[in-house]
Amino acid sequence: MDTMTVSQKMQQAQDFLPINGTDYIEMYVGNAKQSAHFYKTAFGFQSLAYAGPETGVRDRASYVLQQGKIRLVLTTPLNSENPITQHIAKHGDGVKILALWVDDAYKAYEETMKRGAKSYQEPITLKDEDGEVRMSGIYTYGETVHMFVERSNYKGTFMPGYKPWKSSYNPTDTGLLYVDHCVGNVGWNRMNPTIKWYEDVMGFVNILSFDDKQINTEYSALMSKVMSNGNGFVKFPINEPAEGKKKSQIEEYLDFYEGEGVQHIAVATNDIVATVKALMARGVEFLDAPPAAYYEELPTRVGKIDEDMAPLQELGILVDCDEEGYLLQLFTKPVEDRPTLFFEIIQRKGAKSFGAGNFKALFESIEKEQAKRGNL
Ligand code: FE2
Repeated sequence: MDTMTVSQKMQQAQDFLPINGTDYIEMYVGNAKQSAHFYKTAFGFQSLAYAGPETGVRDRASYVLQQGKIRLVLTTPLNSENPITQHIAKHGDGVKILALWVDDAYKAYEETMKRGAKSYQEPITLKDEDGEVRMSGIYTYGETVHMFVERSNYKGTFMPGYKPWKSSYNPTDTGLLYVDHCVGNVGWNRMNPTIKWYEDVMGFVNILSFDDKQINTEYSALMSKVMSNGNGFVKFPINEPAEGKKKSQIEEYLDFYEGEGVQHIAVATNDIVATVKALMARGVEFLDAPPAAYYEELPTRVGKIDEDMAPLQELGILVDCDEEGYLLQLFTKPVEDRPTLFFEIIQRKGAKSFGAGNFKALFESIEKEQAKRGNL
């Protein structure tokens, strides 16, 4: 029987790849100018930096948005021959790069390549008058990439090639603080090779596992394993579909993304009620609230919590606990027309887990949406 806590398991990770956190998340999108407007207006991100024809970049435009420590880069290609155009034609809008902030981008590349990584970007040093950023990159699942970013000698806004983006339109933030975790969906029988890749190549450790007996509803099932680096600053849960009566939501994702990729980005807040209220007021769509019975059972399942139950129930916020505390969470609907990427809003009160106790309520809610799309 597995008796170690998540915190104890993290200490078993290897330290050849020290990571300080998520540096940025880059999405390839069909129209970055309009996407940037959406993430400012709906999510409260702030304009930070821009690269494009006006800064000497000829083949693409990239908008960098920030909220708390979260940096989102939205990139759109400017011609049909650009490989980014093919990426978007195949996958739709989605996450291309999960960039990790490291102390040494050259060593990160060397260590991971030595352990079997597939190269995306050989180490390069980008310079401008504000200093230098050193970067390298490797592929993970599907066409998704981990860039390693070293910026200790850089004083500029984002990185060389970008200029500060001053906008006269600056909606207030919604209390989003940092990236808590990013979840990947992989294909049939691809879970274990992916887990092994994170262990062997990245030195990560598997901190939690759920099989299809634990994550299922009447109709569909999935398996999930959570990979973490040693300090727990970077956590990547990985999902694989499982056989059920009907199509797994992971299979629906794989069909519409046309491959493996990032399923959701979880962003942390210190006040989930205020954050969710603000997001809803700005038009962000969330999954339907679970039935009233969910909230009646909460005190028994989770125990005492600091928050009032009424606003949680009103907003449909989910609660779960583990041996180290509890957490509150809520999931958006997909943020594009393909049923692929969505966001999770999470507030942790000690818990180090990911809401396994909510999986059933969550998935039944997702299935309702899936059925509306005719994909169940
Ligand atoms: Fe999550």
